[in-house]
This record gives sequence, C-alpha cells and structure tokens, in this order.
Amino acid sequence: MAETVSIVPGVEWVGARHPDLEIFDDLFPTHNGTTYNAYLVRGTSRTALIDTVKAPFTEEFLGKVQQLVPLEQIDVVVINHTEPDHSGALATLLEKNPNITVYITKAGENFLKQLINAPFKAHVVAEGEEIDLGGRTLRFILAPYLHWPDTMFTYLVEDQILFPCDAFGAHYCADKLFDDEIADFSADFHVYFDCIMRPFKDKIRDALAKIEGLPLRMVCPSHGPIRRSTFAHAINAYRQWAAPPPAGEKRRALMVVQSAHGKTRAMAAVVRQELERQGLEVTELALSAMRDDDYRNALEQADVLLIGTPTIQRDAPPHVWHALSLISSVTPKTRLAAVFGSYGWSGEAVKMVEQRLDGLKYKLAAESVSFRFTPTPENLETCRQFAEQVAGTVLCQE
Ligand code: FEO
Repeated sequence: MAETVSIVPGVEWVGARHPDLEIFDDLFPTHNGTTYNAYLVRGTSRTALIDTVKAPFTEEFLGKVQQLVPLEQIDVVVINHTEPDHSGALATLLEKNPNITVYITKAGENFLKQLINAPFKAHVVAEGEEIDLGGRTLRFILAPYLHWPDTMFTYLVEDQILFPCDAFGAHYCADKLFDDEIADFSADFHVYFDCIMRPFKDKIRDALAKIEGLPLRMVCPSHGPIRRSTFAHAINAYRQWAAPPPAGEKRRALMVVQSAHGKTRAMAAVVRQELERQGLEVTELALSAMRDDDYRNALEQADVLLIGTPTIQRDAPPHVWHALSLISSVTPKTRLAAVFGSYGWSGEAVKMVEQRLDGLKYKLAAESVSFRFTPTPENLETCRQFAEQVAGTVLCQE
C-alpha cells in the first residue's frame, strides 16, 4: 500500500518521492532527489486537494488519495502553481472527476488551459478570498513570481498551516517527511533558493510582508521536508537572502573584463581610474577566472555593469556570454550597462553584447567604445571620456 502521511488529523500528505532524480527540470543538479508534495484537506462538507504531482507519479498519487477518499468525493483542487511538477496529475484526475473545481490565480488559469488542453471548471481566486470546507477554511494569498507569474500561497486558517508551493522548498528526499525527523538539509535549501527564487527578491519581499504576523504551526512546501519545527528559520532565511542591497554611501560599478592580449585590459585600467575619480566604487572581475557567485553577488549591488570584451572568431568569447547568461539568475540592482573592448582583425563583440543587453532590458550608460589592436593615447582619452559619461549617468540616477 502506498504511503500517506498524516500532517494533522484531517490533513494528509499524498505526494510522491523521487529520490533518484539527479537533475531537476533538466537544469539544476539535485544531490538528494526531490519530492512532489500534495495534500488532502478534509472538512465536514467539502474535500480539497492542494496541488498534485509530476505526471509520471499520477497513478501513485491517485492511489494514495483513494486510500483516504473516493476520487468522486474530491470537490476542490487548489493549484498554487501550474508548473508541471505540480499540475502533472491534474488532467487525469479531472478525467476521473470532471465535477472538481480548480481554485487558481488568473495567470494560473491562463497557463493551465494550455498545459492540459482540456476544459475544466475554474474558480479564479482574489487576494484573501476564503473557501469553507466545513470547519476548515482555505485562504488564498497571491504571491506572484515565486517563481512564476501564477503563484499563490494557501493558508489553512484553523490549523495555521501555510502551503506555499515552491517557496520555502528544497530538493531533498529523505526517508521521513518532517524536518525534525531528518538530517540537516540547509545546504539543499539554500541551493534551491539560489536556483529558483533568487531572481525574484523584490517579489519575495512582497510575499513575506503578506504573511508577516500570520499565526503559523507549520509550513508545507511542495518540495522537500515539511517545516514543523523550523518554519520560522526558513522564513527568516528568505527574509535575509531577499533583503534589498545595502545603501552604501558610494555608487558602485561592477566591471567584468576579458583580454586576450592585454589591450582591452589597458582600456579597462583607464575606465576604472576615471570611474573611481568620479567617486564610484569599482569591483573588477577577470571573466576568465571569476567565480559565478562573486559575480552574482556583485551584480545585485552594482549601480552599473561594465563589460570589457575582445572579439574572438567574430564573436564575444564564451566567458562573456556566460556572464550575460547569469543576469537572469539574480535580481540586478539596476539595468544600466556599458560596453568596451579592443579587437584585432574583426570587431563584432561589442555590438553583439550591446544587443544582448538590450534583450535583457538594459539601458546603455554611454555609447560603447571599441578600438583596433593597441589603443593609442587618443583612444585611451576616449575611454576616459566614456567612463566619465558612465559615471555621470550613474550619479544622475535616483
Ligand atoms: Fe516545483 Fe515551479 O515548480
């Protein structure tokens, strides 16, 4: 018989374990597998499911639910988030019981239509809306962009349990489900935040404000252990990791540079000197040697990003593209940038980087500069003027 776990009387875990998962979403390595947590909540008049599981686990999931209640007695499915690891079993469940009403956000309804490509009864929830299950009340707290536009939390009022879907989760599959029954999983919890939540720090702060002061006995996320003993720790960790960048006295520039023959680096030296002369604090990282985390941390605190790139094989080098690819993995403090570089027999890189920055919604703080081979004293003076303009743009920002 498939295992279900009692959370409190009348609330059961009916999710699935995936201990041998090595890469989540074909993107993120998982060293301890994951779980897809779903919950059955029974009131005296209605029965609800909160989230489902990934499609390959559908039969296991439905089997667990049916151990507790016939599928035709499910009245409500709350979809906190439509990503297929949580909505994957929904289409089959709705085939078996088309009378189910799906409680979901507006964005979620929109996504779900094209995820399951079948009609369903939807109830689009409003902020703070409640449904009465008979002695048990589900309240919906909109939490967009944690980590999709569709996301919301569900709060079980009488039992003081928060179901926040991906938020406060971890890719960690232990033998037991509760945090106080298993080994420390804080490293997996932090990696999960970095991979999934970090690009949305401002949205996390909004969501944390909404649950401030909410009476809590437990936090039941959709991945990994249930927070029975350490929910305050998890919430505080999010508060700390999502804090806004410190408001230092000086504006900051992050300059990342790659230089095949030292020419772009010579330009960078002049640029840096002028930025500092204008009062900016400059963090400079060599693209070929930098650690991703150093760059990501600096990006979240920088008022402007400067990229110094050579042109190699008619392209910007892979390290430059890698740095650009990491921008979407954080919450950059600003979307202001500048580009410069030296080239040899062709010089496409600066323009290509500009175009990528434009695609990432960055504005240029100054017109880019690029020179062929060794920069002359006149070229270096142009670099100084370029940096002066960058600093001027930064210092004019609110
Ligand atoms: Fe666990 Fe965003 O899905």
